[in-house]
Amino acid sequence: KESKDQLVIDAGQKHFGATMCKSCGMIYSASNPEDEMQHVQHHHRFLEGIKYVGWKKERVVAEFWDGKIVLVLPRDPSYALRKVEDVQELVDSELGFQQVVSQYPNKTKTFLFISDEKRVVGCLIAEPIKQAFRVLSEPTGPESLSSKECPRAWQCSNVPEPAICGISRIWVFRLKRRKRIARRLVDTLRNCFMFGCFLSTDEIAFSDPTPDGKLFATKYCNT
Ligand code: ACO
Ligand code: ZN
Repeated sequence: KESKDQLVIDAGQKHFGATMCKSCGMIYSASNPEDEMQHVQHHHRFLEGIKYVGWKKERVVAEFWDGKIVLVLPRDPSYALRKVEDVQELVDSELGFQQVVSQYPNKTKTFLFISDEKRVVGCLIAEPIKQAFRVLSEPTGPESLSSKECPRAWQCSNVPEPAICGISRIWVFRLKRRKRIARRLVDTLRNCFMFGCFLSTDEIAFSDPTPDGKLFATKYCNT
């Protein structure tokens, strides 16, 4: 009887088993031709998108043992802006964001974390803001039902508080997460956003955070 059960489980895994590609990080079912084709398409587009060839004029704002952070500003050469656009497109499609219109497109600052393998493995897009609404801690008990149904609807205070810098996107390549890349991007942003001062965590705000984004932001702002 035991061996029969085992057989069923094996067959199930073969058919439904999900694989994660070790280069692009996509999770897909290798036994499903449609899935496999989607993976091949994503694989090439993604690896092309995060490829970083190095620029003649690059603004290195931080250096680490495992990579560096490059800042791109709106008036930079078109090859730099094009790379930012490509990366943003990948990030937005992963986050399921629609085209988000920036309030101050000529004041946007984009920070790219470049790995030693010459890939863009992290991206932070920031812009100036005047006010933000503090996210209140998640309600517990029966009234938390609505937040379960709509995990993005975090409860926000309706009292605006002054803020200086809004993080409109933060993203780290799936295979490089939990290596403090996001933390180093935000530290660098706080140091570089306004000349000559280090922004406090009260002066930065995360816009419309995802569940991952909220876990990171909560941890970051409390340490
Ligand atoms: N679950 C629980 N805690 C987390 C998580 C998580 N998924 N991610 C980060 N943290 C906490 C941890 O305490 C972590 O420290 P530890 O690893 O020592 O425990 C601390 O935050 C610092 O984490 P980093 O390693 O700096 O974060 P990482 O480089 O992995 O990037 C990020 C975090 C950007 C949220 C990444 O998970 C990601 O790209 N997710 C998908 C895209 C996304 O949802 N981005 C946020 C969108 S919201 C916005 O853009 C405004
Ligand atoms: Zn792949």
